[in-house]
Amino acid sequence: MSKKLIIAIDGPSGSGKSTIAKFLADQINATYIDTGAMYRAITYVAMRNGIVDDKDKVIDFVRNSTIEIKYENGLTRVFVNGEEVTDKIRSAEVNSKVSDVSTIPEVRAELVKIQRELGKKETVVAEGRDTSTVVFPNADIKIFLTASLDTRADRRMKEYLESGVETTFEEVKESLANRDRIDSGRKVSPLKKADDAFVIDSTSMTIKDELNFLLNTIKEKQKTN
Ligand code: DC
Repeated sequence: MSKKLIIAIDGPSGSGKSTIAKFLADQINATYIDTGAMYRAITYVAMRNGIVDDKDKVIDFVRNSTIEIKYENGLTRVFVNGEEVTDKIRSAEVNSKVSDVSTIPEVRAELVKIQRELGKKETVVAEGRDTSTVVFPNADIKIFLTASLDTRADRRMKEYLESGVETTFEEVKESLANRDRIDSGRKVSPLKKADDAFVIDSTSMTIKDELNFLLNTIKEKQKTN
């Protein structure tokens, strides 16, 4: 990899962003930034501290906390004030609150600062809802990754079954649809396609096809730089 690049991938829950972002980061030796993990970590600790429904307390907490994210051996590790919360952030409880916490502009401002700092050092693959529109508006390559609601619910359902979580397809679908509504409808940094983003619909594409598309796009980009 010759020049430091920023690759930003946005899309709804279950569109396969983290899978493809990790593959790509490993392939091109880049740092992977899972921005959703940061919103999840804040949400988890705010829930545990009993302040998640009090916006001002959440803002105060985020402003006075250290949030760190590390990508090691295929795993995103998240720390809040030095405490590792990696194993706690993907529960159904966190899922039910994280979109609300993410609508708070002051929370976003704090997390975006950290994300931009990470993007200054080396080549990064960032993924989330606003990485191509707000966090890195000048990203070298922007991707809007999508998939049908049924496909996304199917994927989530498989993950839940593998980790022993009991739920129904309808519940999973409803939860995803609800998060789509909040994430795309909020006033601050809503999920939307950047004007200059490539759209990838992962409903009918394999990971291999997606990865090939991305690697070719990067190659083309480097030719023109
Ligand atoms: O990608 P994920 O499912 O882990 O994200 C969890 C939540 O975090 C998602 O519902 C919305 C929020 N989020 C956000 O608002 N902005 C980001 N850049 C990433 C995630």
